Amino acid sequence: MAAGKHPLGVRDDFVWGASTSAYQIEGAAFEDGRGPSIWDIHSRTQGRTANGDTGDVACDHYHRWPEDVALLKKLGVGAYRFSVSWPRVLPRGRGAVNDKGMDFYDRLIDGVLEAGIQPWLCLYHWDLPQRLHELGGWTNRDVAGWFADYATLIATRFGDRVKHFATFNEPNVCTLFGYGMTWCAPAAEDRVAYLKASHHLNLAHGAGIDVLRGLVKDVSIGCIYNLQPVHPADEAVAADHEAAAKLDAHWNRVYADPHILGHYPNVVVEDYEPYMQAGDLARICRPMDWVGMNHYGPIWTKAAPGSQMGFAWADVKVADAHPEIGWEIFPEAFTDQLLETSARYKLPVYITENGCGRNDDQEIADADGYVDDFYRITYLKLYTAAMKAAIDKGADVRGYFIWSLLDNFEWGSGYGNRFGIIRVDFPTGKRTPKKSFQWYADAIKGVLG
Ligand code: FCB
Repeated sequence: MAAGKHPLGVRDDFVWGASTSAYQIEGAAFEDGRGPSIWDIHSRTQGRTANGDTGDVACDHYHRWPEDVALLKKLGVGAYRFSVSWPRVLPRGRGAVNDKGMDFYDRLIDGVLEAGIQPWLCLYHWDLPQRLHELGGWTNRDVAGWFADYATLIATRFGDRVKHFATFNEPNVCTLFGYGMTWCAPAAEDRVAYLKASHHLNLAHGAGIDVLRGLVKDVSIGCIYNLQPVHPADEAVAADHEAAAKLDAHWNRVYADPHILGHYPNVVVEDYEPYMQAGDLARICRPMDWVGMNHYGPIWTKAAPGSQMGFAWADVKVADAHPEIGWEIFPEAFTDQLLETSARYKLPVYITENGCGRNDDQEIADADGYVDDFYRITYLKLYTAAMKAAIDKGADVRGYFIWSLLDNFEWGSGYGNRFGIIRVDFPTGKRTPKKSFQWYADAIKGVLG
């Protein structure tokens, strides 16, 4: 690193991290009193995930976490972002606390701190307790109170050691795909359910912030958004432009705008009116310390008349689509999105997810389990350079968390899509750092290779 300055132009206190989520890595679905979540039910329902894969065992992180923390230490990250499984600590979503579940996170947090790493705790990465779903889940306005009670439990027990909290990971994905488009649990396709779910999630976010702020000394609170440019599939078709404008609002702004700016985007205000009560925007818009931004690539959309949401995903339109997963590699969009996010919300931005997935059958391990994932390194080089471009142009970017530490349960794709910089051999659970692990360890030190 030249003269103490990182070649990516980041601040001296820049946070390099790695991200995971509970349902994707923990496994131990039936152990120590954990209750079911909507993702357990979803993944065990025929036809919902590739291969019928479930998170029942996943990376078995519940048992192997000391090894994973040792790998984080070896990687040299300053922060580890993970999520708490709500039904592991509150098996019925509210009421009786599962001490064994709480003890697990106690051990994990202590282990992370002992490794010299800051724990960044996300309260919700999509695994709503099934019992709450049976009471209406996100479509029931009471969910904001349930979430606040859960946040109280977590803040009270862990707030002495955890200082960085995110209320939600990607509220857009779990509500739009969960209630509007069937791709995520609980797989509804119902515009009204989606509108209610997203508004109630926003209320829960505000309530969660108040709890954390009240209970945790020196707390730093954010929310993690998935922000990506949305383009019309056909430039010449007016309906595709309308679809893009609607999806852009629902994908990129329906959460962050009310959370930070105190209003819903104009294009959807009327949609939300039936579900608003007096004072809701003030309940939702509570002071935040940072914005989390997940980003993979732009989206192309087309009009879908007759569908519940009125828009649909379209094929990627430019030549540089990621051949294996259909996502587009377009680092310039990352630069633009960072600049826009920083300017629009005027808060420090942490990149809370960025990384490269590759289909299992195309990610080849040698006899020792080692993967020479040059394509992932290419992606990471392009995207970290794009981050530098944004920083150089004035974006207030404070951290970068790679997705993901481990290959894991990639939601609808099951184990068929690997995002880790560490290979997991799922039958045995064996971990083997990939070539990209070393690349990232070097990049953190300022050696870009
Ligand atoms: C994001 C999710 C994360 C992971 C990555 C690939 O949308 O937050 O859990 O699935 O995509």
